[in-house]
Amino acid sequence: MPEFADKDACQLLDADHIAVKHLFVGYARLAMASSAEATQNERTELAMKICDELSIHAQIEEEIFYPALREALRGDNDLLDEATAEHQEAKQLIADIRTIGKANAALDTLVAELNVAIEHHVKEERDELFPKAKAAPELDLVLLGEQLRDRQKELQAELLAPA
Ligand SMILES: [Fe+2]
Ligand SMILES: [Fe+2]
Repeated sequence: MPEFADKDACQLLDADHIAVKHLFVGYARLAMASSAEATQNERTELAMKICDELSIHAQIEEEIFYPALREALRGDNDLLDEATAEHQEAKQLIADIRTIGKANAALDTLVAELNVAIEHHVKEERDELFPKAKAAPELDLVLLGEQLRDRQKELQAELLAPA
């Protein structure tokens, strides 16, 4: 049995969280360097990659993971409402980053703000949502993981397809 296929929903989502954290760290390192000017293209590319990855991640959570969890946690929706509101805030920051479109001091500030917002959001998912998902008996996290992975691949392919 391939190890990758066994990743359940929480493991898959948390692997995304870790991957995007690495991108944020990479961005901050470039933005802080004295050669920040020289890394403008690299920073722009990294910022757009962060936006793309987070948008897909939020979309698969909203389409697949959150609704399944909402159903399983009948009546206990505060956390999911809060998580969804945080997605909206992140989407606004992502839209602002895409509007600026190239690395400069304003973009550095927005990326740093997005990093803080995502860090907070991820902590809540990890510490509060995932334990609830794991404790919900009718939730098949392995099946959900497959659905998340399939949809993620679909969205990544759409992103790479010529417009
Ligand atoms: Fe997440
Ligand atoms: Fe989320």
